[in-house]
Amino acid sequence: MAHYHKLGSIPKKRHVTYYKDNGELYAEQLISSEGFSSEYTLTYHHYPPTLVTEIEEAVDVSPDFMELDLMVKRNFSGFDVKPEGDFLTSRQVVLGNQDLYIALAAPNIKASGIFYKNSQAHEMVFIHKGKGVLKTMLGHIDFVPGDHLIIPKGIIYQMEFEGDDNRLFIVESFSPFHFPKRYLSNSGQLLENAPIYERDIRRPERLESIDELGDYKVLIKRDDKLYTYHYESHPFDVVGWDGCYYPYALSIHEFEPITGRIHQPPPVHQTWEAHNFVTCAFVPRLFDYHPQAIPAPYNHANLDSDEVLYYVDGDFMSRNNIEKGQITLHPMGVAHGPHPGAVQRSIGQKETQELAVMVDTFKPLKITKQALNIEVKDYYKSWKS
Ligand SMILES: [Fe+2]
Repeated sequence: MAHYHKLGSIPKKRHVTYYKDNGELYAEQLISSEGFSSEYTLTYHHYPPTLVTEIEEAVDVSPDFMELDLMVKRNFSGFDVKPEGDFLTSRQVVLGNQDLYIALAAPNIKASGIFYKNSQAHEMVFIHKGKGVLKTMLGHIDFVPGDHLIIPKGIIYQMEFEGDDNRLFIVESFSPFHFPKRYLSNSGQLLENAPIYERDIRRPERLESIDELGDYKVLIKRDDKLYTYHYESHPFDVVGWDGCYYPYALSIHEFEPITGRIHQPPPVHQTWEAHNFVTCAFVPRLFDYHPQAIPAPYNHANLDSDEVLYYVDGDFMSRNNIEKGQITLHPMGVAHGPHPGAVQRSIGQKETQELAVMVDTFKPLKITKQALNIEVKDYYKSWKS
């Protein structure tokens, strides 16, 4: 996220003395993910971020990947995931590979008080249902349905919900989320041709800056293990920070669709790119306006990418019998296309209300035991006339 931001109180220069009222020094920390060669943020803490008092035995949280044939179209009922747990314990990984995990969650605990740090992955948390606040060491961000929350690796956070009916679609990426290069100027400004603008990005505000000592547990994930670290200082003790590495929110409802006279290819819907995958947002829009246009997508042979669609709202024009929260997986190597009748149905239509999040991966996705529990059987036969 190469857009500079600052919050709270910081010294005039980096790496110089910065004193508290009592004459002690604030502790500076640099947070970055790709060594010292990419975006970073400098934080100033009441206490050093290193005051560890105990580390409990790590717990294995590896996804339960199954040994299955992968070149089979699949369909999963995401809303069949049982509501349980908090923002972290509710997560069930359903798909994944060496570049990312895709998880579903239906947390029904409003606020568990857990502090969490994902030290192995950057997260995109899509809020399908639920309102609340993302509390982070760099400030808080209020969220509502339709928000994508981007939480960079290593940022300590909590999620608190207003109610107990919440649905999340989560992508854990082992590389950072970036806006597509073609959306950006040489110096990183979002260009006029991009469907996203800087004003659409909601950065952290309301820094808590808690000056307290005690026993604070932070759950840290690394190498698919969850470590419970005990710290002496409060995880939200930052008095100020500046830089380009921080969490932010982008609502799918702010994504401005690009339309044309004839069918536009999927890259016009792109939101982010990471190593070996991209994400897209399908949003309500006017349909193609050539007098003979077919708004439904053409059949296509996605030879080099697995396509995952998470259905959020509206009728999805190319699919029959799709419900909110469903996930379809169209694997690489075999053609896919509109369901029977969808092409004919789309001709002459003026607009669509469809809302969906797509993830296209360039390596095959594996399927977990939890995904099989919510699978709609024989989806691959549903094109049969
Ligand atoms: Fe497709």
